[in-house]
Amino acid sequence: MTALPGNILEAISHPGWWGAWFPRPDEWVAWRAFLSAVFALPMDSAQLEIYRACTGRTEPPTVPAREVWAPTGRRGGKTRIASTVAAHLAVFVDWRRHLAPGERATIMLLAADRRQARTAMRYLRSLFVDHQGLRKLVDGETQESLELKNRVVIEVATASFKTTRGYSVAAIVADEIAFWSVDEASANPAQEIINALRPAMMRGALLMAVSSPYSRRGPLWENYRRHYGKDGDPVLVWQAPSKVMNPTIPQEVIDEATELDPASAAAE
Ligand SMILES: Nc1ncnc2c1ncn2[C@@H]1O[C@H](COP(=O)(O)OP(=O)(O)O)[C@@H](O)[C@H]1O
Ligand SMILES: [Mg+2]
Repeated sequence: MTALPGNILEAISHPGWWGAWFPRPDEWVAWRAFLSAVFALPMDSAQLEIYRACTGRTEPPTVPAREVWAPTGRRGGKTRIASTVAAHLAVFVDWRRHLAPGERATIMLLAADRRQARTAMRYLRSLFVDHQGLRKLVDGETQESLELKNRVVIEVATASFKTTRGYSVAAIVADEIAFWSVDEASANPAQEIINALRPAMMRGALLMAVSSPYSRRGPLWENYRRHYGKDGDPVLVWQAPSKVMNPTIPQEVIDEATELDPASAAAE
């Protein structure tokens, strides 16, 4: 069997792992810089330049991020990369030493609604079930969960999710968090959900919030305001237009999104 990848960049490049899912590396240059930043991997000068432009920081991180907040444009590859990070953490990190007997590490894919959460799940599922070796690691699956033999379970949940105690969380993907509904009983479900989940995060766990920017309120905005451009901050903020993250995006898609949603236009 292929040796385990040393890091996520190896995992998405190596033909024995997920290389086939990312066949044209030049299209993923900006996301590779992003991943280097999240996991504190060495950057070359081109990556460093992208990193500086997207984070407002100067020095590359020396330790992996605890949280990453990424206001980035539509169709920029956010959900795909977030799912890949989740898959990487599910399979290439051993959480068992932090787990009590019988306990499982949970990876949560959170989105505004089930339909959206399932998009992330589909990307993620492919990285397992379409991979000859990793397929064998799957112990059980439903439309909304994937159980692995290494005691990791990946679950979909929505923004109306009510935290129940007893979770040990290895990763949280908060997809399109700027659009999580505010019509629940609470004033700000996004912030409440994140606050409720944070204490369940295990040592080394990652919270990854990716979203098109929408308004100057809520946790995406707050974290941007507090953490953007701060060297050495374990909360990483990465802001970029779609075209920077995904050079394959057709101009019409950008124009159309801008027309439909003036708020997102500000980020393009
Ligand atoms: N850098 C990239 N290179 C090639 N294709 C990309 C890139 N980023 C995104 N894509 C493709 O664009 C589409 C949208 O990606 P997705 O992750 O769903 O975007 P988002 O969540 O940002 O709206 C997918 O088909 C994805 O494979
Ligand atoms: Mg998406």
